[in-house]
Amino acid sequence: MVTIFIRYQLVYVSVRAAECKDTEIEKILESCIRNNAKIDVTGVLLYSDKKFIQCLEGDYAQIISLYDKIKEDKRHKNVILISLGSIKERSFPSWQMGSKKISIEDLEFKTNMSINEKAEFKDILNGENQKGGKAIDLIKKFF
Ligand SMILES: Cc1cc2nc3c(=O)[nH]c(=O)nc-3n(C[C@H](O)[C@H](O)[C@H](O)COP(=O)(O)O)c2cc1C
Repeated sequence: MVTIFIRYQLVYVSVRAAECKDTEIEKILESCIRNNAKIDVTGVLLYSDKKFIQCLEGDYAQIISLYDKIKEDKRHKNVILISLGSIKERSFPSWQMGSKKISIEDLEFKTNMSINEKAEFKDILNGENQKGGKAIDLIKKFF
């Protein structure tokens, strides 16, 4: 019998809670390191002073149950699913959870985003543009 593992990718955006200070971000990343390797989930987490955008990649059941847990976390709110689908290969295979602090004001210095892409990325962060593929392309520009 041949077992085929189909990997999935999930992307969401959320609003960082005012109580979520930078020390809490460190704790979140510690949880990622502690937990994600065990369930073979990889991905990236971008955060600004106001927003999160996270990509989770791995087994379907694992990323759904992790997403269900993350959604309940009080350190963010207004969690909006941007995309969920199967993938041939992971976009971010090397990170248990790669992370970067981003600032909307200096996107053009940190990435090679065009003006249009920058506008699209802002819409994605606001949950107004749910083109998952585009979100991944833009997230990749930070790494
Ligand atoms: C924006 C955000 C992203 C998170 N991402 C993860 C994650 O990828 N993996 C994880 O285990 N916990 C993540 N967490 C934390 C979980 O909500 C939860 O606090 C943690 O998994 C508890 O695990 P622990 O008991 O090992 O600390 C995230 C929380 C937030 C607010």
